[in-house]
Amino acid sequence: MAATSPPLSFDGAFYKNADDFFREHAGLALTYDDVTLATLYSEILPRETSLETVLHERLQLRIPIISADMDTVTEAPMAIAMALHGGLGLIHCNLPEREQLSQVSRVKNNVHGLIPDPIEVTADQSIGDVLTLVEERGFSFRTFPVVDAQGVLIGLLPGHTVRPRYAAIQVGAAMTPRAQVQTIRERDLGKNPIATADKFFSEHIGIHKLLVVDDSDRLRGLFTMSDIERIMQERHSQLKPARDAQFRLLCGAAVTATRNSTGELDRDRILAHIGGLVERGVDVVAVSTAHGFSKGVGDTVRLIRDEFPELPIIAGNVTSGDGVEYLSNCGANVIKIGQGPGSICTTRMVAGVGIPQLTALYVCSKVAEKKGVRLLADGGITKSGDIVKALTLSHAVICGGLLAGCPEAPGQIMEINGKLYKQYRGMGSLAAMQAGSAARYGHTSKDSVRKVAAEGVEALKEVSPPLDIVLTQLAGGIQSGMGYLGAPHLGSLREKARYIQVSPAGQRESAPHDIVEVKTGS
Ligand code: XMP
Repeated sequence: MAATSPPLSFDGAFYKNADDFFREHAGLALTYDDVTLATLYSEILPRETSLETVLHERLQLRIPIISADMDTVTEAPMAIAMALHGGLGLIHCNLPEREQLSQVSRVKNNVHGLIPDPIEVTADQSIGDVLTLVEERGFSFRTFPVVDAQGVLIGLLPGHTVRPRYAAIQVGAAMTPRAQVQTIRERDLGKNPIATADKFFSEHIGIHKLLVVDDSDRLRGLFTMSDIERIMQERHSQLKPARDAQFRLLCGAAVTATRNSTGELDRDRILAHIGGLVERGVDVVAVSTAHGFSKGVGDTVRLIRDEFPELPIIAGNVTSGDGVEYLSNCGANVIKIGQGPGSICTTRMVAGVGIPQLTALYVCSKVAEKKGVRLLADGGITKSGDIVKALTLSHAVICGGLLAGCPEAPGQIMEINGKLYKQYRGMGSLAAMQAGSAARYGHTSKDSVRKVAAEGVEALKEVSPPLDIVLTQLAGGIQSGMGYLGAPHLGSLREKARYIQVSPAGQRESAPHDIVEVKTGS
């Protein structure tokens, strides 16, 4: 028998759906703490809810959280940790292009099932040469396949031979010869190469490397037992990784609307940059600026769309339906919403513009629905409850400050009066603009030296626990919210949400009060 929900009551007069609520409040800009969500009849337990979100057919996340493309938030270690826990990291572009490309490579090459291009050595090299290679490239491994000039496998140099005492010995003399090296033919990997490799390692005690060869015995790849074990363990972890079709971690990268000396968009440079990112396997590029409803950003998105028709593009930031329409007409798939909500932002004070997040999200969501694009709620998220509210009107959130204190964020830990902190700065702060982000705020780097008005501050964040703990807490909070609304998935959360404005006294009531707090909830 189908389950029945309790009869409709007069709740609807108080707790309104998005259209009724925001239209009634047209003319008043609201943000997360101004509003609360009403509980609804539920047959769903929090742990039964799904946090999956599809931003593009090639961009499916297991949790709707993205780390901000800021130079104190997302570089390779953060992007790796975000994707390993089901989210996405956007690697910032306040660094030399070559360095950004290599960061993307680090994410895309992190623990794959099959390493498609293992580092090879040749028989005529000395072990000293191999040691130099290990040192120069910072490799954490010392076992190398040995190939001839045609790439044919002729042996395996075991890690225990790569020691200074053997430096003068030739690789050819130290290697395990081909006949004794365990290999598998590429065509025998089957549909599930990970399961094939896992079975191999179970059946071959003490063998930790499996080389893949083609029919001519040319080296085609390498499995390591530790990678396979990590991948098998992921299947049991609470937050599962976000991967691409080739089982590599997802990774995004920010790009700017670079201009040449005459002030024109530098098309060649932009396209070369994107080409490099695509070559390294980037899954999405983000044209991140403070004012996305502008010709420069639109032209950049169009340029990328024309040249890379299949590449998912995030663009922003905007806070109006017209802005969403403009960027989606230019070819963006996902649009960032947020002007001035960020914890380090001063745009609203400096420029007097920007819209509080929930109202901005509602206005943008109406056009996004029509245009078939996805929205990201960017900035101003300080707790999981904010994320639940944001997700009633968007498809994922972007967090900066909430993640900047994690060990995975760039930057050193500093101690001040016995407390540990990490630096967190706005990309529109003078220091960040001088380091390269001026274009994001419509200035050239020359402008930043002349001290244009900064739109962000430099700050500190208290050091927080590792990202997996922070994300598990946030995901748990989102699932709680979905349980209260009886929403099994995020689409249902968007449909079911019922809003009511909260008075200042109601806001005080929402946080712990009239107690002496001995332990925080986080
Ligand atoms: P949270 O609140 O997560 O916000 O710290 C991160 C978002 O803030 C934006 N951002 C800026 N906005 N001036 C601004 O007005 C800045 O200097 C600045 N830096 C970052 C950005 O959208 C980020 O994702």
